[in-house]
Amino acid sequence: MLDRKIEDLKILFTQEQIEQKTKELADKINKDCGPDSELVLICVLKGSTMFCCDLAKYLKMPVEMEFIRVSSYGNAKTSSGNVQAIDLTLPNLEDKNVLIVEDIIDTGCTMEFLINILCRTHKPKNLKVVTFLNKKIARKVNIEPDYYGFDIDDKFVVGYGLDYEGYMRNLPYIGYFE
Ligand code: IMP
Ligand code: MG
Repeated sequence: MLDRKIEDLKILFTQEQIEQKTKELADKINKDCGPDSELVLICVLKGSTMFCCDLAKYLKMPVEMEFIRVSSYGNAKTSSGNVQAIDLTLPNLEDKNVLIVEDIIDTGCTMEFLINILCRTHKPKNLKVVTFLNKKIARKVNIEPDYYGFDIDDKFVVGYGLDYEGYMRNLPYIGYFE
């Protein structure tokens, strides 16, 4: 049984704040990319499903959506730094504008791993990173996103795609346990 209760969560970002920030991020990306050049979104499963789908709705250029799956956490609350590729199946991305969409960058190990693989094996024209949450203070490698929604403290957060032992991804807000 799950040792944490949803009722004990402290809300960090409400559904309204999340929606507002997602629109702001989409506006920036729309401005930077322009309305004509195609963009490939790479949604990193499972955490970034909600953010990626919400973001995609506000993008105005022709968008392709691809999904890859990696795992670094297992069920623990601290990042293992040991990134496991579960499914990295992607179409040919050569000469495409690619945007990796993440829920959160914590140590940065997952993003470093993804950037290395994408650059080496796919040679995109342009590779950028957007993450909804940025836990800058927890960084172990030198990786910075091109866009991020909120910078947060070193707290374990759940909701809006982020899980605690596989649960709570479905919450429409982001919270933490004290
Ligand atoms: P990193 O490799 O340490 O940057 O961790 C990246 C992945 O760990 C994220 O994509 C999340 O799936 C997961 N993660 C990191 N911090 C949290 C958190 O506070 N709550 C839930 N998942 C997290
Ligand atoms: Mg993730």
